[in-house]
Amino acid sequence: MNPADVQSWIEAAEKAFSKATDLESLKTARLAHLGDKAPISLASRALGTLAPDEKASSGKIIGEGKAAITAALQKATEKLEAERDSKVLLEEIVDITLPVKRSHRGGLHPITIIKNEISDFFIEQGYSVEEGPELESGWLNFDALNIPPDHPARTMQDTFYIEPVESGMVLRTQTSPVQIRSMLENEPPIYMICPGRTFRADELDATHSPVFHQVEGLVVDKGITMAHLKGTLDNFAQAMFGPDVTTRLRPSFFPFTEPSAEVDIFFNGRWIEWGGCGMVNPKVLATCGIETNVYSGFAFGMGIERTLMVRHNITDMHDIVEGDLRFTRQFGVGL
Ligand code: DAH
Repeated sequence: MNPADVQSWIEAAEKAFSKATDLESLKTARLAHLGDKAPISLASRALGTLAPDEKASSGKIIGEGKAAITAALQKATEKLEAERDSKVLLEEIVDITLPVKRSHRGGLHPITIIKNEISDFFIEQGYSVEEGPELESGWLNFDALNIPPDHPARTMQDTFYIEPVESGMVLRTQTSPVQIRSMLENEPPIYMICPGRTFRADELDATHSPVFHQVEGLVVDKGITMAHLKGTLDNFAQAMFGPDVTTRLRPSFFPFTEPSAEVDIFFNGRWIEWGGCGMVNPKVLATCGIETNVYSGFAFGMGIERTLMVRHNITDMHDIVEGDLRFTRQFGVGL
């Protein structure tokens, strides 16, 4: 065994390994210089054919040669692996400071947000949330609510009548007809609210809109008194305006309640009119087939735009109606 041969194999292997540009080409070089058919492997296998004294010295030279080639391979592998790793790091780098393309998230209109809040508040207390049609019969919108034909609310000025006028259909001017629908369809006890759109022939200005929203509340049960009404309104007002708000009832008149009252709230240092309420007029209960000597009830109705305007100090109805996103976004998305 010629030590010079082994030395030349070592050098050839070192050269080949250092020339490899990636792990793939290093693998080819490894097979050529350390694989089964590599000179050092063939020489190693040929050792068996040598005489014992030559075997020992040649074995040592070949062993050292193999170790040198293996060490060179190890060095080259480490170098190429490090190169591969840093290349991957570079290629997969994410620049988190780059601006992203953002599309605006849609959101609910503030009227819808507060309507949902009102519904959640009453649902928690076992009320149902009812709906009624916006195109309503005059009988349900007026007569059944004890609003006689000569009542000023029935003139063409306030009400959108639907042609042909003989149809008796109107765009509901209030959510109160849903009270009637509820009492006609259900036996007491009744605990319901109805938030919804209402219509009146008003010009759009800072405080009016021809299309607006009300929330109606109705309770019919045994032994219902004005104390229940007052307590309910207090809790409702606090849910809407905060825990410090107080309410007061001011005597008033509505044909469908007796006695009737306006509800005022003390908010931001002053009394503000919030809505109407009262004990359901026995005439109305009787119209709906409810026994007035067994049951009594209370009802209330608030403007939802008004609630929103008072709560958020909105001074112009146009902001609520026009849908300018700069206005609506201030209320969040409400999802
Ligand atoms: N419907 C009345 C309106 O539009 C508001 C109202 C007042 C509703 C008193 C009620 C109530 O249920 O009891 O002006």
